Amino acid sequence: MKDVIIKISVVEKLKQFHPWIYKDEIKKFPKNINKGDLVKVSSPYGEILGIGYINPESIITVRILAFKNEEVNKEFFQKRIYKAFIYRQKIFDNITDAYRIIHSEADFIPGLIVDKYADYLSIQFNTAGINRFRNLIIKSLIEIIKPKGIYEKVDEKISKIEDLSQNKEQTIYGNVPDKIHVIENSLKFIASIKQGQKTGLFLDQRKNRKIVSSYTQRGFKILDLFSNSGGFGIYCLKKRVDFVEFVDVSQVAISQIKENCKLNNFKNYKAIKEDAFDYLNNLNKKFNLIIIDPPAFAKTRKEKDGAIKGFQFLIINSIKALEENGYIAVFSCSHHITEEDLKKVFLFASQKTGKKIVIIEKLIQDLDHPYLLNSPPSFYLKGFLIKVI
Ligand SMILES: C[S@@+](CC[C@H](N)C(=O)[O-])C[C@H]1O[C@@H](n2cnc3c(N)ncnc32)[C@H](O)[C@@H]1O
Repeated sequence: MKDVIIKISVVEKLKQFHPWIYKDEIKKFPKNINKGDLVKVSSPYGEILGIGYINPESIITVRILAFKNEEVNKEFFQKRIYKAFIYRQKIFDNITDAYRIIHSEADFIPGLIVDKYADYLSIQFNTAGINRFRNLIIKSLIEIIKPKGIYEKVDEKISKIEDLSQNKEQTIYGNVPDKIHVIENSLKFIASIKQGQKTGLFLDQRKNRKIVSSYTQRGFKILDLFSNSGGFGIYCLKKRVDFVEFVDVSQVAISQIKENCKLNNFKNYKAIKEDAFDYLNNLNKKFNLIIIDPPAFAKTRKEKDGAIKGFQFLIINSIKALEENGYIAVFSCSHHITEEDLKKVFLFASQKTGKKIVIIEKLIQDLDHPYLLNSPPSFYLKGFLIKVI
């Protein structure tokens, strides 16, 4: 294994279990290194700080697999997968059969994402380094979780950066049906691992769907903006609200909403395929609760100003469409947008509309998407339930 020597200023960071080493934090690079090679990371004094894998072309040059000199073999992955799986089973066994099992760095396997949908797994190898261990990881998952099938998902953008063009979206073990029936808090949903970029079930929002819907009651009118397959609105329908209007720009999402509502026997809804900004612009009805759960508006820091403007528009116009003492649940799934940024948007909207805003709930990603102290991007989903007075 080749050696990477880091700068003295970075030693403390590694001792606090930061999982990444940036290019400019490296004092001495090994020679003849390839994307994905395992490396031993040491301090300038020769103290071994961990084992990781390297991508010399990436700004995040080394991702740490172990903070000691440990062999990276099948047993290594088995132990980590087993621990992560047991943790999820304990939390979710009476709640759902669909959850994330491995959340990359936050489950100490950087670059790996594994989600479980009933008896099936979806898997993503997001770095050249973790892709080297794909066979060991797949075998371990089969032994520990015993799925009926595993489907590999590929993020095209990441695949280019990491030279993973050989990875194809396909079933890599057993059989995976096009539609998988899952249960979440006694509600039925259809997930489709094979379809498009997303499965149709945003697992990270599970507990927020429950919290937000607990504020609704009979007689409430709900608007679920950027609804995807309808998670939030469907939880509200279970609370016997008057009706839910779902809005999403994707036809696939609209079809999924209809299927999910049918499965749960809900008829008092409308699923509208429209741009949420256009919809709000032309709106002439009022609601008791509006959910705003857009895609990541700011994928990079540069896009942050535009994202804030987008939130300002959405919140100001939602406030205008609220009944007296109505609620808004708003989320951002981009780690560049902070809770403070959202609070500033509320202040701005409050002034523009002449309404007082009370924060009722602070909302974050569910427990199967752990938030690792030293990996800021692992805390990406933040939201608030506010009451407008
Ligand atoms: C984060 S997902 C919503 C997840 C959903 N709330 C749930 O719990 O399952 C964002 C959704 O916004 C939709 N979308 C993206 N841009 C949109 C736009 N301009 N107008 C309406 N929907 C949009 C996407 O199709 C996607 O379904």
